[in-house]
Amino acid sequence: MSDWRDRPKLELHLHLEGAAPPPFIRGLAAEKGQDLSRLFDERGHYRRGSFEEFLRLYEAACTVLQTPEDFRRLTLAVLEDSASHGVIYSEAFLSPDFCGGGDLEAWRDHLAAIADAAAEAEKQSGIILRGIVTCIRHFGPDQARRIARCAAETAGDFLTGFGMAGAETVGRPKDYAWAFDCAREAGLRLTCHAGEWGGPDMVADTLRDLRPERIGHGIAAARDPALMDRLAEDGIVLEICPGSNVYLGSAPSWDRHPIARLRERGVKVTVSTDDPPWFHTTMTREWEELERAFGWGEADLAELNRVALGAAFCDEATKERIR
Ligand code: ADE
Ligand code: ZN
Repeated sequence: MSDWRDRPKLELHLHLEGAAPPPFIRGLAAEKGQDLSRLFDERGHYRRGSFEEFLRLYEAACTVLQTPEDFRRLTLAVLEDSASHGVIYSEAFLSPDFCGGGDLEAWRDHLAAIADAAAEAEKQSGIILRGIVTCIRHFGPDQARRIARCAAETAGDFLTGFGMAGAETVGRPKDYAWAFDCAREAGLRLTCHAGEWGGPDMVADTLRDLRPERIGHGIAAARDPALMDRLAEDGIVLEICPGSNVYLGSAPSWDRHPIARLRERGVKVTVSTDDPPWFHTTMTREWEELERAFGWGEADLAELNRVALGAAFCDEATKERIR
């Protein structure tokens, strides 16, 4: 396969702030007179570190994203980039924590700006975006409830999902059950990061206590054959981000990434970039590496696109437009 870039792709796991190109964050910092030089290395890339360090730097980068206008510009930049890598449908994690700290009125204003930008990008390039509110696990269960309320109050055609990201070492899934119940009752579809750093037990506990239909990453399940079989039987979809896993070290290498084993066992897998500029990846690069590591080709992309379409948090009419 010579050119992965032009192939149509669906992406289900992308953090909006995490997709901000470094020049975008540097530009906003300059406009606001903030010194964020510690975030960048000598080549101007986001600095590399452990997962904990990544989260700290990520949150520092988010401090320049303040107004709805900042998020409107961010959304346009991110969607232009995604579309340039062949993405035709994208779901982005949106964080009320970084859009007014969980204040509902502030969140409404930010969300309206993001949705406007998505509509503009759709007109320009055809890319379709849906939003998934994500709470941040290490901000704790009380804040997660506030974020879930923001999500529940703004659920609709654009905001279709709820999830949780952040440090898996903090608390247990059941601590966040109220937030997930609140979102479910509002009609939102559910996903949750688990099994990126935690073990198979974290994936199993997440499924039992939060009942999401998709799992963000979930790669630890590959260490437990019975859990893989259960995921396959229950049709749980994994949003796998191989480039992120290899860069941060939750998977040993591209060649030994568990995505191939999970798929061979019948687990529904999809491919996404997570926070592409942080991990020096794009949807094009993900597929170039999957081809190199596992010989995956056009038919594999078509199958994974079908899985992603089936698991997408959008209505049937939207799916018809993508098909
Ligand atoms: N937030 C942004 N990227 C993340 C990741 N890879 N894991 C958990 N939380 C995140
Ligand atoms: Zn993620």
